[in-house]
Amino acid sequence: MKPFTIGFLILIAIAQPLRAEQPQDIILSHTLQAKQDNAAFLGFDAIRGEQFFKSQHNGGDWSCASCHTDNPAAAGLHTVTKKEIEPMAPSVNPARFTNTSKVEKWFKRNCKDVLNRECTAQEKGDVITYLMSLNR
Ligand code: HEC
Repeated sequence: MKPFTIGFLILIAIAQPLRAEQPQDIILSHTLQAKQDNAAFLGFDAIRGEQFFKSQHNGGDWSCASCHTDNPAAAGLHTVTKKEIEPMAPSVNPARFTNTSKVEKWFKRNCKDVLNRECTAQEKGDVITYLMSLNR
């Protein structure tokens, strides 16, 4: 590699944290996916997201609230490990929904635990919309 190329790559690496994703970017990518899944897609809904978050699914014992609690603007507690979980609402915890790969990794794991399947783009978008609607 030429020194110029190396310098350029180092510059990009340094600049990465400066262009952190925003929850809106993550909502947008779920919107595109939800439209692809369902031509009649009508948008995301905070109330539907709240119901989804607080309910059990497919006969399982857990809901999202089992670990993230009924008040996701406050800290949660892992039901199994008893480790504290930072609040989920971006108004309280601005680090939330700023890294697509982190978001998708945890959606995948947690949806499998709670629903026994992956969440749809509609469900994920509804949940993020709900969490973004919460104030401290
Ligand atoms: C068994 C406990 C548990 C349950 C149940 C659970 N979660 Fe989580 N969740 C965690 C842990 C642990 C993390 C990672 C630690 C952290 O980010 O604070 C996490 C992180 C996340 C993140 C990452 C967000 C970000 O940007 O940092 C999302 C999204 C998420 N959970 C959504 C859900 C949804 C939706 C459900 C219900 C389908 C759910 N979780 C159920 C424990 C749980």
